Amino acid sequence: MTPADYDFLRASLKERSGLVLSADKQYLVESRLLPVARKSGLANLGELIVALKTSADDGLMTAVVEAMTTNESLFFRDKTPFELFRSTIMPALLAARRAPRLIRIWSAAASTGQEPYSLAMCLKEMEREIAGFRIEILATDLSNDVLAKARAGIYTQFEVQRGLPIQLLIKHFTQNGELWQMAPELRAMVKYQQLNLLKDFSQLGMFDLVFCRNVLIYFDADTKIDVLNRLARVTAADGYLVLGAAETVVGLTDRFKMLPDKRGLYVPNVSAPRPASAADKPMPRLVAVGGGR
Ligand SMILES: C[S@@+](CC[C@H](N)C(=O)[O-])C[C@H]1O[C@@H](n2cnc3c(N)ncnc32)[C@H](O)[C@@H]1O
Repeated sequence: MTPADYDFLRASLKERSGLVLSADKQYLVESRLLPVARKSGLANLGELIVALKTSADDGLMTAVVEAMTTNESLFFRDKTPFELFRSTIMPALLAARRAPRLIRIWSAAASTGQEPYSLAMCLKEMEREIAGFRIEILATDLSNDVLAKARAGIYTQFEVQRGLPIQLLIKHFTQNGELWQMAPELRAMVKYQQLNLLKDFSQLGMFDLVFCRNVLIYFDADTKIDVLNRLARVTAADGYLVLGAAETVVGLTDRFKMLPDKRGLYVPNVSAPRPASAADKPMPRLVAVGGGR
């Protein structure tokens, strides 16, 4: 691959997904994109670049972007966010949403579903507290491939061994050979939708809780700032944002503030000045995303 080919790929990835590749990641690009090239009947990366530049069909570029994004996820990743969900976030939201008894949760880079299903399993354990509430979980991701896997809710032995307590595995999954499938009831609690965080997402409506974890880390500072500021516009004033362990709002935006002693948990900073813009117009609170209880 020539330096010009590599620059073309880096620019395309940044534009399509926000992914920033440093100049020294050529080996990674080659190992991930050679299989994409072969699948399309192309002999090498040079041919792939020519096809990307000349093809009118967007499918090849989509395959390239999907191959380059990191989809790593696991059940109850980092534990703390899910403990905070049970101990802090849900009690506060249940108290604040006695009317209209609707709580909307968004898993904004859901990958293969472990994150939204972990939230669904937590909710299942809170059946008494949430009785009478409708709780929607919307799970989105850039990649259609990971969403297909998430919708099926089928995981390997290795995947269910990572982070999922054995009691929850036995309770919510059925085994089929080497694979485990999440129970239909749990799968029905999550609605999946393809969505690129770089694009306008205001049409999704307002959320009481946004999990946006382990995706900002791949973006440059300007993209992080843009996504965080737009997340602030769809997070209820008394709602919450949860970021990944290596992510923060500090130094990027003042639209969210950290909660002391609650690692990774942020709340809208209602005193932060909000520049007037068309995107700041009030959002509809009730949007049917299905998967309600
Ligand atoms: C490392 S996974 C994180 C999964 C989960 N949130 C977790 O923490 O375990 C990152 C996900 O972000 C998705 N992603 C990357 N760029 C994106 C974008 N521009 N818009 C939406 N999703 C994106 C990838 O497809 C991938 O599934």
